Amino acid sequence: MSATARKTAPLPSDIRAMKGSAPIVSLTAYTTPMARMMDAHCDFVLVGDSVGMVLHGLTSTTGVTMEMMILHGQAVARGLDKAMMVIDMPFGTYEEDPAHAMRNAVRLMRETGAAAVKLEGGAHMAETIAFLTARGVPVMAHIGLTPQSVGTLGGYKVQGRGHSARLLSEDARAVTEAGAFAVVIEKVPAGLADRITADIAIPTIGIGASAGCDGQVLVVDDMLGLFTAFKPKFVKRYATLGEDGEAAIKAYAAEVRARTFPAAEHLFADETPKA
Ligand code: KIV
Repeated sequence: MSATARKTAPLPSDIRAMKGSAPIVSLTAYTTPMARMMDAHCDFVLVGDSVGMVLHGLTSTTGVTMEMMILHGQAVARGLDKAMMVIDMPFGTYEEDPAHAMRNAVRLMRETGAAAVKLEGGAHMAETIAFLTARGVPVMAHIGLTPQSVGTLGGYKVQGRGHSARLLSEDARAVTEAGAFAVVIEKVPAGLADRITADIAIPTIGIGASAGCDGQVLVVDDMLGLFTAFKPKFVKRYATLGEDGEAAIKAYAAEVRARTFPAAEHLFADETPKA
């Protein structure tokens, strides 16, 4: 697939320009049907590396590969017409040095058609963000709880409490100065998210942050109730598709065993003999 820009999709600069005007709406997607469902309702769709946990049963995002991201990115691109697509850089594909990050970012964009990449990290990733943006790769940063660093963060804890609030504000400023067009802020106290939103010139996209952020993102399988292994406090379930799906499968199994499915309306008659 080529990285042909869709005519109606916003560009990263359009998303950046939404700061201070309309709230920015985003969800993750990993498949074509999900992307189709959200295309008319989201400003951008994130092909998140949460795909590893949500669809592949991994216990963290660190096992996600470039190949997984490209496969899911291509599937999502087929379902989008209006919304912009952002794709996550997986763990180990950008941290080493800016040139390494550049090669992988270009591959992700070229092979999926994504308009931008997202990478995790604040001040320590600023050099890489500056390197990429100077060379034509729009970057969305991700600070606060950065799930790829769950091993060093000591779990999926709230970030930015106490002394680390100042560090998180510095991270937000560093990624802004480096040229990121937006920043995801995950699992931080609401007051801190509000202060950062007021302090920086790029949109903040909250997940477990504050309604005062410039936009919101959720993992689609969380908000649809499809991923039920655990539910972070910041997730609101708008549907119970996991429960509904299991109930439907149970009903199907019972009908097959009772020979009540398939019924007459699902079957084909024998060919009627010609007169
Ligand atoms: O991978 C992902 O789904 C994300 C969101 C939680 C922002 O990074």
